[in-house]
Amino acid sequence: MKISQNKIEAIRDTADIVDVISQYVDLKNKGNNFFGLCPFHNEKTPSFSVAAIKQIYYCFGCGKGGNVFSFIMDYQKISFLESVKTLADQYNITLDVDNKESISDTFSSLYEIHKFTEELYHKNLFSKTGQFALSYLIERGIKLDIIREFKIGLSFNEWDQLVKECKRNKFSIKIIKESGLFIKSKNGLIDRFRSRIMFPIHNLSDKTIGFGARIIGKSDSAKYLNSPETSIYKKSDILYGLKFSRNAILKSGYAILVEGYMDFIQLYQGGIHPVVAMSGTAFSERHAIALKRVTKKVILLYDADSAGGNAIIKAGWIMLKTGLEPSIVRPPKGKDPDDWIRENGTNSVVESLKSTMDYVEFHIAFFNAKELKGSDRQEYLKNVVREIINIQNGIIKNDMIRIFSQNLMVDETDLLKLVRKINIQKRRKTKDNKIIDKLNFDSQIDKAQIELLKLLTHNDNSIRQYVLERISIDYFLTPFLKRIATYLLKNKSQLKFSAIIENFKTEIEREAVTRILFMDAVQIFSEEIVSDCLKILISEPIKQKIRTLRSKIREKESNGEFPKIEIAELDKYRNKLNEF
Ligand code: CTP
Ligand code: MN
Repeated sequence: MKISQNKIEAIRDTADIVDVISQYVDLKNKGNNFFGLCPFHNEKTPSFSVAAIKQIYYCFGCGKGGNVFSFIMDYQKISFLESVKTLADQYNITLDVDNKESISDTFSSLYEIHKFTEELYHKNLFSKTGQFALSYLIERGIKLDIIREFKIGLSFNEWDQLVKECKRNKFSIKIIKESGLFIKSKNGLIDRFRSRIMFPIHNLSDKTIGFGARIIGKSDSAKYLNSPETSIYKKSDILYGLKFSRNAILKSGYAILVEGYMDFIQLYQGGIHPVVAMSGTAFSERHAIALKRVTKKVILLYDADSAGGNAIIKAGWIMLKTGLEPSIVRPPKGKDPDDWIRENGTNSVVESLKSTMDYVEFHIAFFNAKELKGSDRQEYLKNVVREIINIQNGIIKNDMIRIFSQNLMVDETDLLKLVRKINIQKRRKTKDNKIIDKLNFDSQIDKAQIELLKLLTHNDNSIRQYVLERISIDYFLTPFLKRIATYLLKNKSQLKFSAIIENFKTEIEREAVTRILFMDAVQIFSEEIVSDCLKILISEPIKQKIRTLRSKIREKESNGEFPKIEIAELDKYRNKLNEF
């Protein structure tokens, strides 16, 4: 599928960036620019800025930037083409005939095929062929009404039950392929899930978006298989069961987080309703954001093995960092919440929920920190501080420092010193990384080129003209900056800033280019700036020549030769340099 360049331009021209971003971010007008809280990172003071004239945005906090398409791509986590389609839809711009299907049609068809699949699998479980699977669930203590409520199902031990049914029910090949419910084989598409208990995964709008699938009984192959990420299923956004437990969480003021589908079901069935489960992925900042919409208090009820413990440590730091309040309850040794309830009854869990362990207490016990001596103790403290400094909320951060120091009998001031030291190290490190990763241009030559680029993208046309008359593409020596300059020179008569961004495909490049385009707002134009930059850039290749000649001369001299030609040439270049 291809959308013509003309269409893309028409959409870019129509979809005003301030208009589009305002739908997601509360923007305040300040001069030519708009400011708001960045939707891509957590912040309290606005560093996210939108330039109305240039039709680009840039966050001075996290460095994200781009044009209207990249905003939609990043915000909704979709591809470039999908972002074009989304905006075309929104602004009623019809795309070419061969892609009548709009993005919202695709979404609703994907929801439909998942609903259809959920029902088919659910029916399978209650069929004659499914009896063994139903007995397995009942043996594991799951009641029929819960099986029905959560639409638990069964995929048959067949290669193509679902493919056939979907084709028969006229789902398009495109949707079938995008659904993630199938895999390619030599003989075409086959069902991804075969002979497994199927747990449908829902989003908060009650749409089925994927499946977790358990092997029945014991087996050598992976116990759980999950749907892959699709345009409707983003793993790091979804918590299993939240749709069912949302109200209970709001009412009780906390959420219990478990690792497995079975743990969730067992707790929920036992009347412990404010519960959510991870589904086959580690706890992420995006999960934290999803939870924060319903509660701040999270009780981590993970498996009582060392994997569960390590996962608690990791998830807990993420929670603290994002402003959640984690506490911990552990099942009896070696058990998971599902075993715990089945063996000791729901009441045993309910009782334990009344006396949760706070995170610091758990951390210290898990690493046996009170017993650590010498360098082990130092290393432990350093690791703790490395995490604490990521906590944004100053009150929580200070509390953590105080509680750790009290518990471990470290002087609070010593711990604070360590915080400062590690902060400095971290800052130095991120600065180094930025130079490599983020295309930060720090040399004098880079800066001169950037200065010219800034002027070439100036809002004032006469300034642009002034520079255009004095430069040539050869002055741009750094490949990335040369690419920007090439575009600017090629399109000098009709310059569209926001279009430049589409020439840069990776996020890092896109951000670097937006950063440069964003800079003009503060600059003051002067003719000296231009001539200084030109001097630097014209003289640089000459200086380079001089440097190589010098080393050649030294080399020849040390071999006992007389570098006659080189000396003459060196003289020539030196004179050239003096002309400036
Ligand atoms: N998981 C996964 N892939 C695996 C194993 C586990 O995605 N190969 C995920 C599943 O979401 C699972 C959770 O991790 O529910 C916890 O795994 P585990 O404790 O091994 O399974 P249980 O939930 O205890 O499953 P069961 O009680 O059915 O054995
Ligand atoms: Mn289990």
